[in-house]
Amino acid sequence: MCGIVGYIGAQQAQPILLDSLHRLEYRGYDSAGIAVVGDTLQVEKCAGKVSALEAKHPHFSGTWGIGHTRWATHGPPTDSNAHPFLDATGQFALIHNGIIENYQGLRQELVTAGVPLTSQTDSEVLVQLIARADKGDTLAAVRSVLNRVEGSYGIVVIHRGRQELVAARNQSPLVIGLSTGEQFVASDIPAMLRYTNEMVYLQDGQLARLTPSSVEISDLAGASVPLRSETITWNAEDAERGGYEHFMLKEIFEQPKAILETMLERVPDLDLGLETVRLPRRIRLVACGTAFHAAMLGKVLMEQIAGIPSEAILASEFTFSGAVGEPGLVIAISQSGETLDTLSAVREARRRGAQVVAVCNVMGSTLTRETEHVLMTRAGPEIGVAATKTFTSQLVALYLLAAYLGRRNRHLEAEQVSRLVAELRRLPRLVQGVLDNHQAIQMTAEWIASAKDAFFIGRQFNYPTALEGALKLKEISYIHAEGYAAGELKHGPIALFGKDTPVIAIVPKDETYAKMINAIRESGARGTPVIAIATEGDQEVAQVADIVIRIPESEPRLSPVLATVALQLLSYYVAKYRGCEIDKPRNLAKSVTVE
Ligand code: M6R
Repeated sequence: MCGIVGYIGAQQAQPILLDSLHRLEYRGYDSAGIAVVGDTLQVEKCAGKVSALEAKHPHFSGTWGIGHTRWATHGPPTDSNAHPFLDATGQFALIHNGIIENYQGLRQELVTAGVPLTSQTDSEVLVQLIARADKGDTLAAVRSVLNRVEGSYGIVVIHRGRQELVAARNQSPLVIGLSTGEQFVASDIPAMLRYTNEMVYLQDGQLARLTPSSVEISDLAGASVPLRSETITWNAEDAERGGYEHFMLKEIFEQPKAILETMLERVPDLDLGLETVRLPRRIRLVACGTAFHAAMLGKVLMEQIAGIPSEAILASEFTFSGAVGEPGLVIAISQSGETLDTLSAVREARRRGAQVVAVCNVMGSTLTRETEHVLMTRAGPEIGVAATKTFTSQLVALYLLAAYLGRRNRHLEAEQVSRLVAELRRLPRLVQGVLDNHQAIQMTAEWIASAKDAFFIGRQFNYPTALEGALKLKEISYIHAEGYAAGELKHGPIALFGKDTPVIAIVPKDETYAKMINAIRESGARGTPVIAIATEGDQEVAQVADIVIRIPESEPRLSPVLATVALQLLSYYVAKYRGCEIDKPRNLAKSVTVE
């Protein structure tokens, strides 16, 4: 999830590249760099923001070049891991967005051939391979290398003696901006909107050659593709949100990609890079807020899938818990990696000899620097204060981790692991199914929008989902909401139920189903409106609930991901209906760095 820009024309490239990179900064990147062709190929790059790059005072003269802002996935945010990358002979420079899945094999090939590599990234192998494949035609060299590459990429390549940009895309956005006597390319439209609004969306498997006066598109087989441009009518701010009204909505819709990227390279082999983690007798999962709800599901997964007794502990309560002094494994979950409560828990656990695995979305954050083992979620930058895509990515990371530990612990047969992994691989598609249902969810929001209180109920895997649904609703719509394990209703909360207290029940077709139906009946008997999140094709639930929001059928342990996406949409539309400031709810910060 990096930012890419490229320019070729008659103007000086450097100011345009830096300006375009600034326009991508709202996404919060960790490194920046540019390469400009003049008399030579000039490169400047560093860890930090675009301002850190500018502070190095590059003064590059030249009319074509590329620029990049990085969101680290392979290798921490350092100067050497920043893009652009040069090949060993300094002829080519490349920027890349995405993940090269088979990079280890390609990297080994380069090492064996004696090619010196300067970074820990998957991206650098591409430029080295392109240079080795080059016979005087950059486009042909890029095509031949991409035919060997597995994974996602948006790339732009320049050569110091050829006046052209070569771009290619697979599962990573790349848009070409057309103008007279100059052309642009970028991963995001806002980077170019100041210069042109005539855009060509490159499709997966397509390559483009840009010169000041022409743009040609072809596919990986070499066949040429007609150029079709569109005129963009958004303003710059709309464009940053990709046409979505709020970042939260955009991020909800980015979940199929975030989940896919979190799994890339890691399945089917469960290659998590955690071989040096010692198998624990006991696991403690620590986190705050939404990440704590991931920890709660994680506890169940570690016990069921890995066969290891586990406990989820609020990070802010960790030092007071009896478990604080135990050795064993601590799994610390944090989107930002900067939440002080979580960091304090981790520091205390490490001081007492525990090994720690961090599940984190920001590489280079304090959490990733202070822990020996890191399992990155790859959701990309999350701007909305309410956690959405990072939560479901955390769940995916925990499924992978539980399956990995379960295999090592011999709690699962190889066949069971493969079945779970196969189900996981279907998740992006199933999540897309929930998103495709957004209009029905939007219509349901009206039912809740005037309520003062709402109750979310679920059992087993979906008890944490109920808590997360309630948190999401309260933080962005300011409706008081509580999440309960459905079995608890009769022990107290049902005293509050009546016609003004909607109940949102998570009722997938799994072993909790019959008891969930009973809980819905008990609620309905108090006149409470009930909205059920239920499996497609389930007819029975419609007889007891007032409204049914459908989610696709899935392996029961994965239903929390699907139900969560539906609940995120529901909260979003309720908040919108109530006119709330969705991306920046009152009193909340994206990252809580105080105890
Ligand atoms: O960055 P972290 O995941 O450590 O943040 C933890 C919580 O502050 C965070 O999940 C918070 O609850 C979100 N606002 C929830 O939407």
